[in-house]
Amino acid sequence: MKDIVIPSNSEMNRKSFLFGTATSSFQIEGDIAGREPCIWDTFCEKEGAIADKSDGVRACEHIERWKDDVALLQDLNVDAYRFSISWPRVVSASGELREEGLSFYIQLLDSLNDAGIKPFVTLYHWDLPQYLEDKGGWVNRDTVFAFEHYVDVITKALGDRVYSYATFNEPFCSAFLGYEIGVHAPGKVGRKLGRAAAHHILLAHGKGMKVLRKNAPKALSGIVLNFTPCYASSDKREDLEATKNADEYINQWYMQPVMEGAYPEVIDLVDDNDKPPIEPGDMQEICQPIDFLGINFYTRLHYSAAKDQSKLYFEHEHNQPKTDIGWEIYPQALYDLLTSLHSRYQLPPIYITENGAAMADEMVDGEVNDMDRIEYFSGHMTSVSKAIDHGVKVSGYFAWSLMDNFEWAEGYLKRFGIVHVDFETQKRTLKASAKAFKKLLVSRY
Ligand code: FCB
Repeated sequence: MKDIVIPSNSEMNRKSFLFGTATSSFQIEGDIAGREPCIWDTFCEKEGAIADKSDGVRACEHIERWKDDVALLQDLNVDAYRFSISWPRVVSASGELREEGLSFYIQLLDSLNDAGIKPFVTLYHWDLPQYLEDKGGWVNRDTVFAFEHYVDVITKALGDRVYSYATFNEPFCSAFLGYEIGVHAPGKVGRKLGRAAAHHILLAHGKGMKVLRKNAPKALSGIVLNFTPCYASSDKREDLEATKNADEYINQWYMQPVMEGAYPEVIDLVDDNDKPPIEPGDMQEICQPIDFLGINFYTRLHYSAAKDQSKLYFEHEHNQPKTDIGWEIYPQALYDLLTSLHSRYQLPPIYITENGAAMADEMVDGEVNDMDRIEYFSGHMTSVSKAIDHGVKVSGYFAWSLMDNFEWAEGYLKRFGIVHVDFETQKRTLKASAKAFKKLLVSRY
């Protein structure tokens, strides 16, 4: 069996470095009868939206099988488990707490805590209640206050069971993919919509942070952002400029407001009509102190100047080698990212809250020999380790994902799990990568 290889003197070999796996509610839970509909239920019904025409009706049946899944986490020897709360499972359209949904999360949290596994809870991992989308979703400023209310009632109800809260997972994906280019739920299109959604999500983060400080003062609270580092196709001035625009538009647009209370310079290149609907005081509200920054990393992107001068940048195809979802494998970019953020911002401690790979897994004689995924983990963990040596404070690493699940617009076709799921029988099987992950975790001192 192949191991996940990281430098032998790495800080990550110590028990003080936290290792976990991650999932999200819509991707694993199923049991849609037990909650209000969300934007992903609606999106899945849209012709052509999901590659295999699937939906979240069953997913991994985690609502029924959660005890087995906690046992899996124990078997893996993880320190922590990152999962999200489904807002439409715990809050009804009239704003009341839904007792059945709440009781599910309380049982899950109690059982994780009993097992000594730290719960890292994400409050929003893309499953907006449809009743809010019906009133405009994240384009409507009222959704910010609905989120504030949700955070207030859920954190009060969960008490001190949660080790860490993240307000949002990847605002870029919700805003840009969901409201600007429409490839994710709710499938809206337009720069004005995308920029408004991003602004309201960021504002909701700031307001959510304040509620967390009040209701969960002992929890480690922050936000999870995804970064796709941008590389220029040449050293020509116009290509470098376009690459800077891209980085600011897709990455720093979310980071800079959270850290410094300002949008990046590229905002000046956005038409006035499309600019975010900033009201007085918003930027200060967004920029709340955070205890940690969660970073999700998968790949990098390549850019050059667009021929059409009205465009901010031109994005190229991914380079080889690629994972099964078509994303370039380039671990160095994770090192470059961590060290550049470290020199650019006053960073709080960082958790790598997602990193992993979709691979074309094959089950042979009951085993999945995913050496390619093990190699992906080795390369990326080594980059994290080097960044720590460079002085970046990284406190933990979560593999995406605990198990194969509903991969959004790709449906069940792309497998990111370290545990294989047979979606017919729901049988879980540890892949070679899960065994290697466990071996690494057990070997720490
Ligand atoms: C991230 C999402 C996560 C998962 C991975 C592959 O953008 O946060 O839910 O789908 O990508």
